[in-house]
Amino acid sequence: MSFSFSQGYKQLPTVDKDAGEQESLRRKGPRKSIFPLLRLTFAVIIIMCVSVPCVRMIRSRGFWATCHGAQRNSSTLAKLPSHYTLPSGDSIPSVALGVWQASKGEVGNAVKTALSAGYRHIDGAWIYRNEEEVGQAIKASSIPREELWLTSKLWNNFHAPEDIETALDQSLSMLGTDYLDLYLIHWPVAFKKEGNNVIDEDLTADPYPTWQKLEELVDKGKIRNIGISNFNIRRIQNLTANKLKYQPAVNQVELNFWNPQPELLKWSKENGLLLEAYSPLGSDKQVGKSLSVPEVKDIACKLGITPAQVIISWSVQRGTIVLPKSVTPSRIVENLEVFKIPQEDFEMLEQAAASHPPQRVVNPSSGWKLPFDVFDGQ
Ligand code: A2P
Repeated sequence: MSFSFSQGYKQLPTVDKDAGEQESLRRKGPRKSIFPLLRLTFAVIIIMCVSVPCVRMIRSRGFWATCHGAQRNSSTLAKLPSHYTLPSGDSIPSVALGVWQASKGEVGNAVKTALSAGYRHIDGAWIYRNEEEVGQAIKASSIPREELWLTSKLWNNFHAPEDIETALDQSLSMLGTDYLDLYLIHWPVAFKKEGNNVIDEDLTADPYPTWQKLEELVDKGKIRNIGISNFNIRRIQNLTANKLKYQPAVNQVELNFWNPQPELLKWSKENGLLLEAYSPLGSDKQVGKSLSVPEVKDIACKLGITPAQVIISWSVQRGTIVLPKSVTPSRIVENLEVFKIPQEDFEMLEQAAASHPPQRVVNPSSGWKLPFDVFDGQ
């Protein structure tokens, strides 16, 4: 059956242009009323009152940068490495969807959106309490398991040697898989099994027994790579002073404009340890501030990309894996696109990030009532 565009449409009444003009001329006659003018002025004032704070709010969140001067077309920009190679030989995607703080009921859709946008790396943890929904979304995607990179983390309550495999099995079962690509010691802190946040001083001081157990689980085929998270240099050296069968594949730490940790980055590169950047945008607490940094906005304008893309690209260009979290479809898509920032802009951003006292978003030391600062003040 053929279908014509005009079908189903009613013709609009034709406007008699001449009559309309005559009418408007009649209105423009000498007996002008002041009311239309007043009404117009009133409307303009209302629009300005409503729009000025809105625009200010949007701009302060960094969503809209006013660009002056020539803008580049982002399609002409070089791409950054999409993967890194780990000591095991495995290839890990450089950008992941982070699911910390992605709540139940929204994390599944975020994962589905990410997978259809092209993400193949999901960074999760047992303690995020959303692994089941993440697993369901992965299953629904029908993407072959071997094409995905799944990371989880051993929570602080499960360091007792007999608990480690059980904790891993729980994550495997919730994610609906029989192996993890990467399993991390979530914190260099071991809690006692029972009793909230009561620390097990021996295991906290010496994570080697936990590491040995993780090595066994690699040999059993349940984990492909093992690593650490939130370890500072002293704690890494404390662990690697032991005779390890497998060296840590990565160290996942907070890295962003406010806490760029250049010394840790330099040391890690010199020692062949890949860093993963969590809270790269400064987390929900600092994201607005991060996207409003003048250098970030200037580079975004110049390159024709968004402020978030500048920060995420900068992270990859620094040689780290980056784990931006979002549950907003458009942002999830946006965050996967990383571009090479011209060297002088990259250095300017690096310098700007290092030119203020470091400011962490995440430090649970006092919340956990630790008798020490987990980062040793670094
Ligand atoms: P949402 O999840 O509501 O989209 P981080 O990755 O540093 O932890 O930052 C996460 C925060 O940044 C969340 O509040 C997230 O909001 C927000 N966010 C993620 N991507 C973007 C983006 N491209 N533009 C603006 N905000 C973003």
